[in-house]
Amino acid sequence: MGGNLQTSSEGAVHPEIRLEGVSLVYEAGGSQVLALDDLHCRFAAGRVTAIIGPSGCGKSTMLQITRGFMPASRGTLSFVGPDGQPMPRPPRMATVWQSFNLFPWRTIEDNVAFGLEMAGMPAAQRRVRAHEALRMVDLGGFERKYPGQLSGGMRQRVGMARALVMDPEVLLLDEPFGALDAQTRLVLQEQLAAMVERTGKTVLLITHSIEEAVLLADTVYVLTARPGRVAAEVQIDLPKPRSIASTHDARYAGYFERIYGLLKSEVLRSMHGEAGGQA
Ligand SMILES: Nc1ncnc2c1ncn2[C@@H]1O[C@H](COP(=O)(O)OP(=O)(O)O)[C@@H](O)[C@H]1O
Ligand SMILES: [Mg+2]
Repeated sequence: MGGNLQTSSEGAVHPEIRLEGVSLVYEAGGSQVLALDDLHCRFAAGRVTAIIGPSGCGKSTMLQITRGFMPASRGTLSFVGPDGQPMPRPPRMATVWQSFNLFPWRTIEDNVAFGLEMAGMPAAQRRVRAHEALRMVDLGGFERKYPGQLSGGMRQRVGMARALVMDPEVLLLDEPFGALDAQTRLVLQEQLAAMVERTGKTVLLITHSIEEAVLLADTVYVLTARPGRVAAEVQIDLPKPRSIASTHDARYAGYFERIYGLLKSEVLRSMHGEAGGQA
């Protein structure tokens, strides 16, 4: 994304995130649904890890557990600092959702600054930070507009700015481009690739797009149909900076086919209802 967004402030730590033996059981109307089953994943420090898997396999659940919004039923979540030790404090995390809601009555700038306002930051300082975040997503000049005046792609970038303004050490993205048209999506994917390479944040990207996973990630975890388990871990060894041109790399097709093959059998399994869901 444009601008030269500052990477991370002093003292920022980009942790490795570990999920070890994580299971999650939802209690719904007297019955239990096993959403995640004995998941083992590592999201490397300062890298992009993509999670891909059939609809309903527990991807969003995994993100909520990582974010700390929901405890795992079993297993552990830990954040490991550069010294290899557990972090003494939880990392700063921010999330971008597919269907995030901007406040229609607030300007773009005030939407982006909302989290800072909640944190009690003075108005003048908030404005500086919000403007900087908007420049990072190429929306400098749109500060005083309202959400209704922006296209879907621009609103999605506001959602990204709203996360970046918090200067997160960990960025969690839950199908951030799912609702966009193909061209807008390509441009935003390229911009996201540039932004994460520049800032070195630990990024977890949930996606149902194989292209997106291979283009953006260093590691891709393919999950099974529900209950979600790790079907495979694929290291994506494509040169950086990544761009649409990366899709012409001879290795790209190999990664795509490998992930497609794994995913296809899981999607077929979930379509045929063979995936057990009862805990
Ligand atoms: N609050 C809930 N109560 C009961 N079941 C839920 C709840 N949230 C999600 N589930 C179920 O858990 C499974 C995983 O959901 P989710 O993590 O949203 O999947 P994904 O993001 O991969 O599509 C789904 O089968 C879903 O129906
Ligand atoms: Mg989801």
